[in-house]
Amino acid sequence: MSVLSDRIPEYLRKLPGYTPGKPRRQAERESGVPSIKMASNENPFGPSPRALAAALEAAGQINYYPDNDISELRLKLAEHHGVGPEHVCIGNGSTALLDTLARTLLTTGLNAITCRLSFIIYRIATRAAGGDFIEVPLAERGFDLEAIAAHIDGNTRIVYLANPNNPTGTMFDSAALERFLERVPDHVLVVLDEAYCDFAAAFARERGVEYPNSLQYVKQGRHNLMVLRTFSKAHGLAGLRVGYALGDPRLVEILARVRITFSVTSVSQAAAIAALDDTQHIGAAVENNLLGASLLVKALSEMGLRVAPTWANFIFVELGQSAEEVAQRLQAEGIIVRPLTAWGAPQAMRVTIGTPAQNQMFLSAFRKIAAVPTR
Ligand SMILES: Cc1ncc(COP(=O)(O)O)c(C=O)c1O
Repeated sequence: MSVLSDRIPEYLRKLPGYTPGKPRRQAERESGVPSIKMASNENPFGPSPRALAAALEAAGQINYYPDNDISELRLKLAEHHGVGPEHVCIGNGSTALLDTLARTLLTTGLNAITCRLSFIIYRIATRAAGGDFIEVPLAERGFDLEAIAAHIDGNTRIVYLANPNNPTGTMFDSAALERFLERVPDHVLVVLDEAYCDFAAAFARERGVEYPNSLQYVKQGRHNLMVLRTFSKAHGLAGLRVGYALGDPRLVEILARVRITFSVTSVSQAAAIAALDDTQHIGAAVENNLLGASLLVKALSEMGLRVAPTWANFIFVELGQSAEEVAQRLQAEGIIVRPLTAWGAPQAMRVTIGTPAQNQMFLSAFRKIAAVPTR
């Protein structure tokens, strides 16, 4: 008997799944100890109180469909970034926008390129759209823009660049982006994913490096660059799912039709508007991150581990042993981290920078398990 699922195209039947950071409740059920999540690069201080109040107020109206044009938030973002609202497309998280972009630009026979060890959704979105996914090796744990440019062919439609990159935490500067953009042909869209830009810009100021001013290209009318931003990181709204793309109005207009209708809820829209104004909450998260990063990098390096300086709100740690095992032992101590097995780096883990107390708890748990050798 032939079953219906056999008729689904092979690229969908073989689609790799996404392995998310373990939810806190699940970890607590498994380990039986109260836990803190340092696995998904969320804001450790919670949502902005202003966003929370706006979300609660909007919840009283959830019998109505949301504004499908997301007009108020779109205008607010346009004003915030100094572009017209026609440059802004909002989605149910930047993950959903990555899917929309792939469905819009790719199909069987076309391809998308990125580097190894980058955000896993690039692969899933590309393959789900039927496209070929090309990964070039990383250079010194960072994006190899030269290699990506060299792999572009007539069938390439998307290049994904995460800046900073997840999970390595590396960044490329504005001169590198400029050089790369000069080499990208007109038939290729550069999707510049700046999920961690608030943290990167602060590190860049501190370290005297120039974080790319990517929006200048959008303002200059560059037609083949789409900048992605999210409310899930510094703004603390990961659970509400709001992300946005800034780019050429002709592409934005098509994306707005391809994306799923009503996919950004009214509660999310209201919360995002309020979160954008809460510069104090964002600033506190960024400030805490600068301090937490230097503390964790120093402490882990002193333990003899290879830790790259981060430009984001997490640390990439090379363990030299099974990261799954280390993650399990940390979970038993109440700390949830992300082993990078699904990324193809089974001996590396990613740790989200927490509050000062969480960072200390992580370090004591890590020192404790390091003192007891694996069986
Ligand atoms: C590079 C990168 N882009 C996008 C996202 C997802 O953002 P969103 O929550 O808006 O889907 C993440 C989340 O981890 C990320 O690391």
